[in-house]
Amino acid sequence: MPIGKATAVALPNIALIKYWGNRDQALRIPANSSLSMNMAGLTTTTTVAFDDALKSDVVVLGGVERSGPARDRVAKMLDRVRALAGLAARARVESRSNFPAGAGLASSASGFAALAVASSAAAGLHLDEAALSRLARTGSGSACRSVPGGYVEWQAGTDDASSFAFSIAPPEHWDLRDVIALVDVTHKSVGSTQGHALADTSPLHAGRVASIPGRLARVRAAVLERDFAALAPVVEDDALAMHAVMMTSHPPLIYWQPATIAIIHAVRAWRAEGVSVCFTIDAGANVHCLCEASASDEVTRRLRSIAGVQDVRIVSPGGPARLIDDHLF
Ligand code: DP6
Repeated sequence: MPIGKATAVALPNIALIKYWGNRDQALRIPANSSLSMNMAGLTTTTTVAFDDALKSDVVVLGGVERSGPARDRVAKMLDRVRALAGLAARARVESRSNFPAGAGLASSASGFAALAVASSAAAGLHLDEAALSRLARTGSGSACRSVPGGYVEWQAGTDDASSFAFSIAPPEHWDLRDVIALVDVTHKSVGSTQGHALADTSPLHAGRVASIPGRLARVRAAVLERDFAALAPVVEDDALAMHAVMMTSHPPLIYWQPATIAIIHAVRAWRAEGVSVCFTIDAGANVHCLCEASASDEVTRRLRSIAGVQDVRIVSPGGPARLIDDHLF
C-alpha cells in the first residue's frame, strides 16, 4: 500500500554563467556561483510513491527500470528524504522527459528538481524553496537552479546550508528565447559528474573561477536591465572559458563537433550584422543560441541552413518546479 504519493514537473535550465567544478564533490558545493534561465516547454514529470511493501527502491526512467549507478543516484536522494522525514519505507519512482537525456539539454537538472519536489512531498515534508533547491543540488548541481522560476542565481556558498538557488526575475521579466541547434542527440560519453571532478586538473580552472564574480555581476545586471548588448559577450566569454577548462583537463574533454564550431562562427558574424543573438554550450555538442524574441524566427531559419544541424528547438523562459495532481502510475 502506498503511504504517500506525489508528482512534480520541472524544467531544465540553460546557464548564462556556467557551473563547472566542485569545492565539495560529494555535496556538490560548486567552485563558482552561476546564473540560468529555466526552459519552458521541455519538461520532466516524476511520480514518487513510498510503499511499505517494497523491499528496495524501484526506479523507472523513460519507461525502463534502472539498476546500477542511475538507480543508486536516485536512491541516494530518497535516503536524504527518508532521513529528513523519519521514514523507512522504500519508494517507486517513475520519471519521463519530453526531450532526449544526456545530450546537453540538462535532463539531470529537471530530473533531480522534479525528484526533490515529488519525493519530499510524498514523504509528507513541507520544505521551502531554498530547502528544495539544496536537496535538488545534492542529486545534480544544476538541478538546484530548476527549483525556482524564471532567471535564477545559484550562490555557490561554502557548505550545504549556504549553497542554493533563488529567482532574480520571473519568466515574464524578459522575453528571451533559447534557440537550440541540435547537432548531436546521442548520449555523451563523459557525463558532467565525471567532468566536474576533472576541472582541478586544468591549469585554466583557477583563472576562470577568479573571473566569475565580475562576469556574474555583469550578467545579473544585464538580465535585470534587459540589456542584450551587454549580456551577449559575457555569456559567450564564460561558455568559451568553461570549454577551455574542459579541453585542458587531464584527460581532456572535447565535446564540440564540427557543426558546433560552424555555429559559433556564424552567431558571431550574425551579431556583427546586428542580429541580437549569442551562443552558449553545455557539456555536449549542441549550441544554445540566446536571442530576443523578435529575432528568434530569423535565428531559427539561419541555423537550419548550417550543415550538421539536425533539428532546432525554441524555448522561452519558464517557471518553477511544481507539484501536479496527475500521477504517472
Ligand atoms: C556544463 O549539474 O549536470 O551544464 O552535478 O554532476 O549532475 P552534476 O552536473 P550538472 O553540471 C552542469 C554543467 C553544465 C553547466 C551548467 O549547467 O551550469
